[in-house]
Amino acid sequence: MNEVRTSRRIVFQGLGALGAAIALAGCGGGGEESEAPAVESGTALATTDEVPVGGGIVLTDEKVVLTQPTEGEFKAFTAVCTHQGLTVTSVDGDTIRCSHHGSAYSASSGEVTGGPAPQSLATIAIEVDGDRIVTA
Ligand code: FES
Repeated sequence: MNEVRTSRRIVFQGLGALGAAIALAGCGGGGEESEAPAVESGTALATTDEVPVGGGIVLTDEKVVLTQPTEGEFKAFTAVCTHQGLTVTSVDGDTIRCSHHGSAYSASSGEVTGGPAPQSLATIAIEVDGDRIVTA
């Protein structure tokens, strides 16, 4: 688990076998509904080295999940679970997990792979500018 900046919390950074879900304050079962991301175009989300290959990170303040399914291929999705609107809790290999009720999504496509979620996670357009990942 990495803290990137004090102004923002990254809940979990998952890599394959390390993938136990860990949640910090703000998403730990309190049941608060998340609002849709309000990330403006050009917002710096993270640096490329903060997103593990074959895993990802959850940006709780921005409500964005960043993944890197294969080296150099970055994806971004809303972190708002389509089940009850809570913030997803972790990325475990190729799976974005919402531990609130057990939904799971593909870290490559955002599609539902398990649990009660009725819809895929919406994709967020991003660009890689040098080593920075910014919203498009
Ligand atoms: S809110 Fe995510 S599984 Fe229920």
